Parts: sequence; structure tokens; C-alpha cells
Amino acid sequence: MTAITDPATLDVDRVRADFPVLARRIGERPLVYLDSAATSQKPLPVLDAVERYYWYSNANVHRGVHTLGTEATELFENARRRIAAFIDAPEDGVVFVRNATEGINLVAASYARELLSPGDRIVLTEMEHHSNLVPWQLAAEHAGLELAYIGVRDDGTLDLERAAELLRPPTRLLSIAHQSNVLGTINPVRQLVEMAHEHGAVVCVDAAQSVPHMPVSVRSLDCDFLAFSGHKMCAPMGIGVLWARPELLERMPPFLGGGSMILRVDLDHSTWNSVPHKFEAGTPDVASAAGLAVACDYLDAVGRDRIHAHELSLTRHLLDVLDEVGGLSVYGPGSVPERGGAVSFNVADVHPHDVGTILDREGVAVRAGHHCCQPLMRRLDVDATVRASMYLYNTHAEIDALGAALHEVKRVFRV
Ligand SMILES: Cc1ncc(COP(=O)(O)O)c(C=O)c1O
Repeated sequence: MTAITDPATLDVDRVRADFPVLARRIGERPLVYLDSAATSQKPLPVLDAVERYYWYSNANVHRGVHTLGTEATELFENARRRIAAFIDAPEDGVVFVRNATEGINLVAASYARELLSPGDRIVLTEMEHHSNLVPWQLAAEHAGLELAYIGVRDDGTLDLERAAELLRPPTRLLSIAHQSNVLGTINPVRQLVEMAHEHGAVVCVDAAQSVPHMPVSVRSLDCDFLAFSGHKMCAPMGIGVLWARPELLERMPPFLGGGSMILRVDLDHSTWNSVPHKFEAGTPDVASAAGLAVACDYLDAVGRDRIHAHELSLTRHLLDVLDEVGGLSVYGPGSVPERGGAVSFNVADVHPHDVGTILDREGVAVRAGHHCCQPLMRRLDVDATVRASMYLYNTHAEIDALGAALHEVKRVFRV
């Protein structure tokens, strides 16, 4: 695993050596991977952990009396402890899910739909990912709840005056992205939690774009729910985490029914396993949970403060490079640290998919589209954007390569 010697800076060459895919070429050119907000690449220790599980320890968890079953269960439960430590949260609130989307759906279905009453209000923001919009719309429709939205100001930050108006009765729940996947805006979650709690509302944090990139402490955010995906933080696809206050999990009915989540099953009635197992029906993805625990070790070994500082430096450089290219519309806050390393832009009136295609020809992988944020696209008055997003393994030279590729886009489209 990467050993860091200089406490101040991230040794990006050593980090890159841990990610085999980064040595790939796209045609004649080296791959420049700037799509980590969609999914991150995976380092060797994580790949090893997954492989080791299937080679040597594969068994189902919680049921087997044999050695392999016990080992797999230990691996799975140790992963739960490791993740709780990683987000500085009590361990019995860690529920394994498939991804952030499933975590938010669990809260919407088992908390909002079941424990809120008709006329109660849920507050969201205009910058949310569909994963943090649609589950609440489904719950609201089912349970007669009202939805209201905190608007996005022209500078890409939230309208906090509107938030103060909305975060009072009948609001019972706020669900908000910690970091926007389009604008890069880092929202003042701690402040919003205080405002919501003052009036008795609970807060769900969509941490899909924050837990991978910066130190996140559930204890200091003081939130009630927090969801994120393993695959955006160097872990495999198929594993995610919902952290919830254990006392809320106690009150919430199960989300999915099946094996593992029960205590006793009769033909006409069942009782539930203890928290958090009550919310983990069926066979879990043990290998990916083991991989996620190793991803936590990996990110901590590199240093999360160091990763965050590296990304802020890359973001600053990217904003300068986009400025130098000229003729672009860049969305979201114009300076760090109000924003993180997901940066959206458009090149004059060239369609983002065309920009993405030319960039790919130059070896640069970015995302083009609505980024699962259609309401935000409408707020920005665009159909789509190009998004470059960075992680611990990106370099300043790669940002320069994006700049050169954007000049090529301008040349091709004569803009
Ligand atoms: C802010 C945000 N929330 C939620 C999600 C959903 O993540 P997943 O598809 O892993 O469930 C994403 C994915 O891009 C995201 O960026």
C-alpha cells in the first residue's frame, strides 16, 4: 500500500501506481480519467481484498456454523466497524445497502412514508441528484406529504434565507447533498442541521460526493441519516452505506423482507431482527463490503485531509485553465474551498455530447449530460453540461491535457 512520507503533499505518482487502469491508453493517447464523480477507479489493495475473499473465504454470512461461514461473517462485521470509524459514527447505525440511491430509498420508504403524517413537509434543494428527489416524491405521493425546495442562487450556492423560512413546522425532514455532483458546491450541512433540529425536523445527508473526497464526521455534522456509495470511493460497485441514528432505525419498519432480517417467522406474522440487521434482507455483497473496508484503509493511509487539499489544488488549476481556454460557461462557485472537484461547463453552443466525444478522441474521459439533475439543468437554463471531476490520482498535467483538448474542440467547431 502507498506509504506517504511528506506530510504536506500527496505523492500522486505513488498513488497512481496503485491504480492499474490509469496506465491504459485510449488510441494513441494516455487515458486522462476525469469522471470520478460517476465512479472512481479501484486501487490494487481493494482488488486484492475482493479476490482474496472469493479465493479463500467465500461463504454465506450469519448462518454457517463452519469455519468459512464464521470467517465471512467476521469479515462482514469488521467491515461495518471499519466504516463506522471512517465516518466517525456509532457502529450499530451502519446499514449495508447497494448504493446511496438504495440508502435514500430506505429512509424515504421506512421513515417518511411510514412515520410522517399527511400535511408534514419534506424540504429538498433544487440541486439534488434524482436519487435524492424521486424517492421523496414517491413517499410524498403515498403518504400525503408536502415537498418544498430551497433554491439555488446564481453563484451556485443555496438560498439560505429561503432555507430558514422552510425549516420550521410543518417541515419534518430535510434531505440535502453534502456536495453537488454538478456544481461542486459544498453545502453548509452543519448549519442546516442546526436550523432543522431547532424546529424538530430530522436531516438526511446525501454524502455520495463528500465521503469519498473529504473527512466527514457524522458526530460533528449531527445529522440523522447519511448515505453514500462505495464505488465512488475506490471500493467495488454494489456496496453502499446508510448510516442512521439507531433509535430511528428501531422505530422504522423494515424496508425489504426476507432472510436475515427476521427473528421469528410464523405463517401469519413475523418479528424482526435487531438493528441494523432488520434492514439487511437476503445475502449481502460480502466481497464488496470487505473491499469497502480496505478502501477506507487506503484513503486513510493516503490521508483524507491530504486528498481534499490535493483536489482543491486541482480544482483551482482547472478553473484557471477553463478561464484561459475562454468562451466557456462554467457553473457553480468560482472559488475553492466553497466548492469541490466536480466542475461543469459548456463550450459556447456546442452540444456537451459533441464536446465529450472530441475530448474522448484526445484521451480525456469526462461526462456529458444532465448528470441525473434535470431540475438543476432547468435552473441553469441548459439541457446538459460537460463535467470534469477529479480524485486523488489526478495530476495538474492532466488538467492541462483537458485544456489542450478543449482548444481542439474549439478548433473543430470553430467557436
Ligand atoms: C450527489 C449524488 N447523490 C446520489 C448519487 C447516486 O449514487 P449511486 O448511483 O451510486 O446510488 C450520485 C451519483 O452520481 C450523486 O452524485
